[in-house]
Amino acid sequence: MEFDFATLDPADRYKLLIQVIVPRPIALVTARDRAGRINAAPFSFFNVMSQTPPLVVLGIEGRPDGTPKDTVQYPRETGEFVVNMVDFAMAEAMNVCAVDFPPGEDELAAAGLTAVASAKVGAPRIAEAPASLECRQHAVFEIAPNGRSILVGEVVHLHVRDDAFADADRLYLDPGRLDIVGRLGGTGYVRTTDRFDIKRISYAEWLARSG
Ligand SMILES: Cc1cc2nc3c(=O)[nH]c(=O)nc-3n(C[C@H](O)[C@H](O)[C@H](O)COP(=O)(O)O)c2cc1C
Repeated sequence: MEFDFATLDPADRYKLLIQVIVPRPIALVTARDRAGRINAAPFSFFNVMSQTPPLVVLGIEGRPDGTPKDTVQYPRETGEFVVNMVDFAMAEAMNVCAVDFPPGEDELAAAGLTAVASAKVGAPRIAEAPASLECRQHAVFEIAPNGRSILVGEVVHLHVRDDAFADADRLYLDPGRLDIVGRLGGTGYVRTTDRFDIKRISYAEWLARSG
């Protein structure tokens, strides 16, 4: 089937895009506002885009009334946030953080997650996360009048759970021990339990292979 994005309904664009661009990693973002309030919410329009500078990117919708979500507003006030990666053990808790709680409700407490002080930014990280990336806001792009923004963060500090390393001296992580989950469309998620390797090949190897 073919879909012309010039005429496709926005809801259908979303429906199709989130089903074909899979699996998406999930950033459980913790942020603090000027008054010290803490917010936590998951985002799967998320990835790393550069290592020098080390940049991560988040696509964040506006609220139905067009105002920005707290995950855009809080870093706007403090210039900082933390991306906590989500493993299988904390997947349900991550989902609780997406509940539309009334203002003032502590999402992390409701989800049974533990906020601990970060090393370089004011926003806390989540103790249960297998990895947490402390970020300074690099840029925010308001890409539509409905409050949709792209938030770019520069990673200034990384925490990785000690037991997730297969060989810490060589910085090799074991994906099975990290157990990070990804998001499919709708309510679907995946684990990294079905893995395979593909070795990169040089041009000489390519020539030798193709005879
Ligand atoms: C797994 C998952 C992924 C999500 N990804 C996004 C996303 O990429 N962009 C977005 O705007 N909302 C996303 N949401 C919804 C937000 O988490 C939700 O609207 C949250 O309440 C935003 O809260 P905030 O106002 O505290 O920032 C996602 C929810 C879940 C459960």
